[in-house]
This record gives sequence, C-alpha cells and structure tokens, in this order.
Amino acid sequence: MPKQDEQIQRKVEHLFLAEKYFTEESFTDFDGIRLLHDALPELNYRNIDLTTNILGYESNLPFYFNAITGGSKQSARFNMELSKLASTLGIPVSSGSMGVYLRIPDTADTFTPLRENNPDGFVMANVSAKVTPKQAKSAIDLLNANALQIHLNLIQEMAMPEGDRKFFWLDNIKKIVEEVKIPVIVKEVGFGMSNDSINKLINIGVKYIDISGFGGTDFAQIESARNHEIDLTYLDQFSLSTVESLIEAQPELKRVTIFASGGIRTPMDVVKAIRMGASGVGISGLVLHHLQKYSLEEATLFFESFAKQIQIIMAVIGAKNIDDIKKVPIIFDENLTNYSKQRKID
Ligand code: FNR
Repeated sequence: MPKQDEQIQRKVEHLFLAEKYFTEESFTDFDGIRLLHDALPELNYRNIDLTTNILGYESNLPFYFNAITGGSKQSARFNMELSKLASTLGIPVSSGSMGVYLRIPDTADTFTPLRENNPDGFVMANVSAKVTPKQAKSAIDLLNANALQIHLNLIQEMAMPEGDRKFFWLDNIKKIVEEVKIPVIVKEVGFGMSNDSINKLINIGVKYIDISGFGGTDFAQIESARNHEIDLTYLDQFSLSTVESLIEAQPELKRVTIFASGGIRTPMDVVKAIRMGASGVGISGLVLHHLQKYSLEEATLFFESFAKQIQIIMAVIGAKNIDDIKKVPIIFDENLTNYSKQRKID
C-alpha cells in the first residue's frame, strides 16, 4: 500500500475527526416528534417481532451499519470488528467508499474483512456517483455484495480543497442502476435530501434512497478541519435534518423505498424514523464511536441493549412488529409543524 497516498491519508483523518467531533447529545430533530403510547396494546412483549425485510434480506433488527471506511490500515481493523458486530447482530453492513480500491487495487484487503467475517451476511459496497458501471461491478465483485450504495456528497466535496468540482451525476447513476444486477441505494452522507432531489432520482429509475440527513456526523465540519485555507463549516446550514428529509419524502413513499440515517443516537430515534416512513435505519457515527472507544464485546453489549430498548418502546406504543410502528399516532412540535407548512407537505 503506498504510504504517502493522499486519498488513504484522508481516510485516516476521517475516522479520527468523526470520532473527535462525535457527541451523544448532537442536534437532533427527533426530539421534536412525540409518539403516543397505547394503554391497551393487547400484545405479549416476548412475542414482539423485530425482524425487518431490508432489500429482501431478513435482518434481525430494523437498523444497519452504514458506510464508514476502507483504504487505510486503521480501516482494515475497523472493518473487521464492524463486520463481526454486524454478523453477531444479524444486520446489514456497508463498506466505506471503494474509490480508493478502484484506484489502488492493493487496498482490497482493507475492505474484504467485511465479507470474510460475515460470509452469510448482507454486505453493501459503496461507490461515488462518478464511477463507471464497470467500476461499480468490480467493487461489488470484491465483496460479493448484496447491494450497492452510491453516495451523493456535494457539500463535502465543496468543503474539501482537493474535492471534485464537476457534479454531473444523474446520467451516470441511471447507467449504473440499469447495468448492475443487485439493488442500488442512492444515499447522502449526512446533509439530507429535498423532495426535488428525491424526485430527480425517482425519475431516472432509482428505487431505493437513503436520505442520510443532518444531525450526526458533519462532513462540512470534518473537511473544514482538514482545510487549512478556508473554514466552510457554515455550509452545513444548507442541510436538511433527517426528520426534515423524511418529511420531504412523505409524498413519495409509495413510489420509492426510503431508508433513513444521520444522527441516530437512541432506540427512540430508530422507532421515530420508521414511523416517518423509513424501511430501515442506518447508523455510522454511533457504531464508530463504540468500536473506537470500547472493545468489540462492549460494543456488542451496547447494541444488544439498544435492540432490547427498541422492543420495549414497541410494547409501549402497541407495535407487535416493525410494520405496526407505521400506524402509531404522531405529534410534531412547533418547528416541525412550521417546516411542513412552509414546504406544503402534511
Ligand atoms: C461516513 N459516511 C460515508 N458515506 C458514504 O456513502 N461513503 C463513505 O465513504 C463514507 N465515509 C464516512 C466516513 C466516516 C468516518 C463516517 C462517520 C461517515 C457517511 C455515513 O454513511 C452517513 O451517511 C453519515 O455519517 C450520517 O450518519 P451518522 O454518522 O450521523 O450516523
């Protein structure tokens, strides 16, 4: 692996800075949502079913580990632990962007632990919106991936001095979707998506979208820490929170499968995202934090308790299974009500 490579160094810095800025109390719109409990739920807590169909895979739980890393030595170690954790929990897991592998094939062994430690699991390969369909296929082949994620990261690129400056992505995404044989999820990287962006993707044939909104990992902040010329952290003001993005997605829920991620910190956030229409909920910063700061055993205990708490919340709101969550009465606070009104989305 070339030692001084800029792209590999960037991966090291991303892992370090994401953990440095991680906070349990990050800004989250999820607090502006209330779910009402059911005093007569008519259910047995022990029979509550958390299994969730995520792109045809029966996931034990309604969440998955979203794209994080690959490319560096640190990534290899992290991906090994991440995949073991995903395998123990029985949930999907994604690689970080595989652009570095496509450019430097020697970095393959920083990604392959995701499959090696999780042979029967659901693994997603992650690429940028500018790779060719052929490159997308070689990323898929390396991991024998079950799905492909294509990331949209305009704000991140603009905050990076070495970032891309041309953003003609739609035709290319269309080609990849047409040529690749497995499901393709188009995802943001933590700045959310408007209804207009969601519709642009639907119109080119995209069937799966992860709106990945603002509230957790903030790449305007991370890239600004790496940028020694200008501080562009303020670009995150253009973002939509995860809840706002889910509001934007409401009119399209019958036309496209929506996944949610961005700032997921608690079991309540997961349940609320599902209530807002998510078919599965992605977690990056939180699992990164637990695997960086604690042992794999401790991280496993944390996520087992996290899952148990989802089950407790489901009992309280009278949901026997994940689909039942979608029927629970919901109340928005003033900010979210105001947002929906101004955007004319109920
Ligand atoms: C990411 N994310 C990301 N997304 C992507 O599609 N490709 C990538 O390579 C990366 N790289 C990456 C590195 C690190 C260190 C982090 C923490 C995150 C974005 C991630 O998948 C997710 O969309 C956002 O992080 C928002 O979710 P959280 O972190 O708030 O749970």
